[in-house]
Formats: sequence, C-alpha cells, structure tokens
Amino acid sequence: MQQLIAANWKMNRTAKEAVSFIKKFKKLVKGVKDAEIVICPPFTIVELVSKELKNSNIKLGAQNMYFENAGAYTGEVSPIMLKEIGCEYVILGHSERREFFNEDNSLINKKVISALKNGLKPILCVGETFEQRTQGKTDDVLEDQLINCLKDVKEIKDVVIAYEPVWAISRGNPNQKAATKADAEESHLFIRKILEGVFGKESAISTRIIYGGSMKPENAKELLAMPNIDGGLVGNASLEPKSFAEVVKSIK
Ligand code: 13P
Repeated sequence: MQQLIAANWKMNRTAKEAVSFIKKFKKLVKGVKDAEIVICPPFTIVELVSKELKNSNIKLGAQNMYFENAGAYTGEVSPIMLKEIGCEYVILGHSERREFFNEDNSLINKKVISALKNGLKPILCVGETFEQRTQGKTDDVLEDQLINCLKDVKEIKDVVIAYEPVWAISRGNPNQKAATKADAEESHLFIRKILEGVFGKESAISTRIIYGGSMKPENAKELLAMPNIDGGLVGNASLEPKSFAEVVKSIK
C-alpha cells in the first residue's frame, strides 16, 4: 500500500511563509512517487496553499471541520467549504482538539461520518496520554477511541488512522523523543486487530495506520520500516521544507 506522509502545521505559518515553504518543498520532493504527500495548513491559508500545490505531487488537507454543512455555527468551517477549495483529507480528533477544545469521541464520530459523506478522507487521530500509558490503559484507550469514533462507519477504506501517543508529541520541542519503533509497532498492530474485529480482515489490512509524535529525519526511516506503520503525521519537522522532505524520503 502507498505510504502517506502528512504535515500538520498546527497554528503555524503565515501566507508569506507558506508560499516560501512550498516553493522550496516542491523542488525537494519532485519525482517522489511512492509516497502520498499531504499538507494540512491552518484554515486562513488553505485556499492559498491549494493554489500553490496545483499540478504538483502534493495533496491538501485541513486540520479540523464541523460536521454540519452550513448554518449558525460561529467560527466553524464545513466539509463542503473544504472540498470546494481542494481539500482531500481532514485531520479529525487530534489530541490537541481533545485536550484544549474539549472534543470527545461522540463529536469526533459525527465529524468522521460527515467528512466521509462529503467525500473528504478523515485522518482520525487516536492515542493515549502519559498517565494512561503508565496505568497500563493504552489498549483500552485505543479501543475505546476507535470503536466510538468509527461508530456507524460502514466502509473504512477512505479513513486513515493516525496513532499519536500524546506523550510523544513534540509541542514544538525538537528534542522530544518519539515512541520507540517497537512500542509504536505494538500499538499499530493492536489498532489493526481492532479494525479487523469491526471491519474484517481485508479492510483492516488495506487501511493505513500512520504514526505521529516527534517523527523527524533522525527517526523516520526506522519507524516507517515497521510492518504496521504505513506513514506519518508530522508536526514540528514539517515546518521546514528540508526536514519534511527528508521525512518523506524515508519511506520504505
Ligand atoms: P510533532 O511531530 O510536532 O510531535 O507533532 C505530531 C502531531 O501532533 C501531528 O499531528
């Protein structure tokens, strides 16, 4: 299956910075065919980035959306608005949305269903906190998030699962350690088992489960080489063209 490497810029980059990034990045990844590359900028520059990415091998995603198509929801953005400006993917249920904006599994589930209905591919984030991990609850948390966020989803083929252990996310600290390849692989395998239980073996095998949490040029190759890691969701290291291109080129 084709690996997916997605940039989550979070609340970073102005229009000017984004244009400069894309000019450089396009050159660096020109000719890369084996990886599907996606950039998820902040809402204010999604349309601009969409234009800059025309006729390139780089696709576009958003970092969030609301589940209704239109209406009185001040401050929100709908799936049809994202589709209209060229988004193919949307990150949903990121741990920062869960932690700072109180998103829960039931809301995220509505968003997943709405994204799929509107032809957007959700990158659904799951992952345990440090506290949950030290209490031995990692598998329970992952199972709960997956079952509840994917409730009533009939077909998983257009969904990407991002395993993002919250304790490994850099929050801008370039020295933050990622999960070890063995720990990440163990959770990816567990996630695939849960998907198999719900959607069947074939669907589980063909669903991409990507890793996020301090993935960077120094560790991308060994993480991406693991059998159940099908790509990466990259925060901090996606903010510079050179480091993001190096991660992209680390695919197996
Ligand atoms: P970092 O790569 O900065 O750890 O961020 C990971 C992440 O949260 C991507 O969604």
